[in-house]
Amino acid sequence: MVKPKVFVTREIPDKGLNMILERFDAKVWREYTPPPKEVIIEEVKSVDALVTLLTDKIDKEVLDAAKNLKIIAQYAVGYDNIDVEECTRRGIYVTNTPEVLTESTADFTWTLILAVARRVVEADKFVRSGEWEKSKTGWHPKMLLGTDVHGKTLGIIGLGRIGTAVARRAKGFNMKVIYYSRKRKEELEKELGLEFVDFETLLKEADFVSIHVPLTKETFHLIGERELKLMKNTAFLINTSRGKVVDEKALYKALKKKWIAGAALDVFEEEPTPADNPLLKLENVVVAPHIASASHETRSKMAEMVAKNLIAFFEGKIPPNLVNTDVLNKSKS
Ligand code: NAP
Ligand code: GLV
Ligand code: GLV
Repeated sequence: MVKPKVFVTREIPDKGLNMILERFDAKVWREYTPPPKEVIIEEVKSVDALVTLLTDKIDKEVLDAAKNLKIIAQYAVGYDNIDVEECTRRGIYVTNTPEVLTESTADFTWTLILAVARRVVEADKFVRSGEWEKSKTGWHPKMLLGTDVHGKTLGIIGLGRIGTAVARRAKGFNMKVIYYSRKRKEELEKELGLEFVDFETLLKEADFVSIHVPLTKETFHLIGERELKLMKNTAFLINTSRGKVVDEKALYKALKKKWIAGAALDVFEEEPTPADNPLLKLENVVVAPHIASASHETRSKMAEMVAKNLIAFFEGKIPPNLVNTDVLNKSKS
């Protein structure tokens, strides 16, 4: 039997990649930087499947070039880089990697909450730069004072898999957890002692606002000037979802004018974010280069999941992590 052709847009971890290389006629883009769009367009002309990253824009132009493309297996849980509606229309399956990255992403969200509240990055700089030594003060009652996390109110926007995992961890910090999501989740409220509130109440009451919605037309710039003004001036904004959910210009203004106390960002409107992004000049901002799921264990599981989705599909099964289930109603050519 002729092996299906696959283009893999980056070197994903070995276990999953080897599963793909064993079973398919696969070509891998081995450079560190993403393949230029022209390369994807050229490759897509002849393949049955694509393995994509969130940095690969899969729009109409790419899909128009495809002749045999049947499935796009995304190496991420978010898939806002893919025109899924257009894929469904064309009978192309789209899969993602949910669940395996939930706990790691929640861990990292907590890393950011604690880092920004307790000024860990500033403290690290203070020690390494020699400022501590220069101060000739081993310990001072007012040195690098931060904000307590325990006992405060955590506000979760988007109580999905990751939002729930973040909420679960709050118990250990004896926090009150409020959430806003499209749908109310009464089971989870009971299990985790959460309280459902409307969007404005969440912004007004939370000491830590943590965003866990996907990027969609509805969530683009969900947090702008109006929302930041509603937040307490002692509150922190944490974003590990997608950069474009927050209006960065508004966030800069809010931080500069002290409408809020600080922000911790793993994601940016443009990635990589330019080194001259004004947000990077602010001390009350903690940043990371989109690494919330970046643990050895999790990235390996994501690669296996991608491989399993492809294998299931080409065995004639429904891939376990199908995003556009409507595609099942379309006949495949
Ligand atoms: P998920 O289980 O689908 O959760 C997303 C939640 O957001 C759902 O519960 C959904 O609502 C809610 N939601 C969607 N649109 C909304 C809206 N307009 N208003 C209010 N709530 C809305 O997804 P997940 O696995 O938790 O992942 C969430 C996102 O995190 C991903 O899409 C991805 O962009 C991001 N992510 C980032 C990283 C990173 O490295 N920084 C890693 C993993 C994921 P209902 O359930 O109420 O309908
Ligand atoms: C990472 O951002 C993901 O969506 O998996
Ligand atoms: C601080 O190190 C303390 O002992 O309180």
